[in-house]
Parts: sequence; C-alpha cells; structure tokens
Amino acid sequence: MSDLIIAEVGPSGLAPVMAVMNTAFDPGYGEAWNEAQTLSMLTLPGTWLSLAQCGETPAGFALVRQVAEEAELLLLAVAPSHRRRGIALALIEHTRKLLHARNGNILHLEVRYNNPAIELYKKAGFVQIGRRPGYYHGRDGQVHDALTLSCSV
Ligand SMILES: CC(C)(COP(=O)(O)OP(=O)(O)OC[C@H]1O[C@@H](n2cnc3c(N)ncnc32)[C@H](O)[C@@H]1OP(=O)(O)O)[C@@H](O)C(=O)NCCC(=O)NCCS
Repeated sequence: MSDLIIAEVGPSGLAPVMAVMNTAFDPGYGEAWNEAQTLSMLTLPGTWLSLAQCGETPAGFALVRQVAEEAELLLLAVAPSHRRRGIALALIEHTRKLLHARNGNILHLEVRYNNPAIELYKKAGFVQIGRRPGYYHGRDGQVHDALTLSCSV
C-alpha cells in the first residue's frame, strides 16, 4: 500500500490506537484492552506501540514488550475497514526489523485457538510451540485454549 506509514507512538498518541482497538476486536471474547491498561503497559520499559496509518486514517497497531533478547507481540489489530490489504503483515515485518535493531532474536505471541489470525501468523512465519488450556475467558463464561507461537527475528 503506497500511503501506508508505520511509526511508533507514545502515550500522547494513544487516541488513534484506541479508535482502532474499539472497532477491531470481537466484544464477545473481551480481548480488547481499555485505555488505562494500554497506557500502563506502554509506560513499562521495553514496551513500544507501532501505529499504522493510511494517509491520515488510523488503520492498525502492534503493541510489543521486549525483555532482553525476547519479545512478545501483546496485541495486533487492524480496523475492519482496512483488512486484507497486508497491513497486519506490514506491522509484523516492522516489528521484526525494530526488534532486530534492538538486539532481539525471537518474537512470541499467544492467540485464541479459534482466532482466524492464526492463518496470518503462519503466513508470517510463526510456528506453534505450545498450548495453554482454558487461557482465555469469554464474556459468555466460556473458556478457550491459547496457542503459543514464536518466530525468529
Ligand atoms: C487478524 C488481523 C490483525 C489481520 O489483519 P489484516 O491486515 O487483515 O491481515 P493481512 O491483510 O496482513 O493478512 C495477510 C494474510 O493473513 C491471512 N489472514 C488474515 N486475516 C485472515 C482471516 N480473517 N482469515 C484467514 N486468513 C487470514 C491471509 O493469508 C492474508 O492474506 P490474503 O488476504 O492475501 O489471503 C485482523 O483481522 C484483526 O485485527 N482481527 C481482530 C484482532 C485480532 O484478533 N488480533 C490478533 C490477536 S491479538
């Protein structure tokens, strides 16, 4: 996408991120974070937030936490209006490059076992390394396993 720009934002750049957050996640699973949760993670050392914009329009974001050589992709989301244009793949590639530049060598993530995002992660080169039974608690009281995936950087 020619007008896609990805750049890191700090606490003052949270509004467009929350705009994407509030439309991207299925409310049934309760996986979206609120502003206070996002802000408190962002203030921890080693955490960064990358915002993807198409022109002036917020389109997606990635929240990442790095500890030594390892990092976790805590959240990745693209607004429904901007999906299937390669924005999530571009955010993952951006994250890999940034992590490499910060001496990281592996990127982990957790994803609900029935989230279609798994197809995206496989395409991006992640492999499954584990499964956590009953890790996610849905709004309806149902529990769902998490898959743990990793990829080298
Ligand atoms: C998952 C998500 C981030 C994908 O964003 P996206 O920008 O649409 O993804 P991309 O366009 O980069 O997809 C690249 C490839 O991944 C795969 N893919 C992406 N979304 C998919 C889906 N819903 N079902 C199946 N495959 C999918 C496809 O192979 C796709 O290539 P294609 O469009 O040529 O077929 C987006 O759907 C989203 O925000 N979902 C809600 C939040 C979420 O669940 N995040 C992940 C857990 S934190």
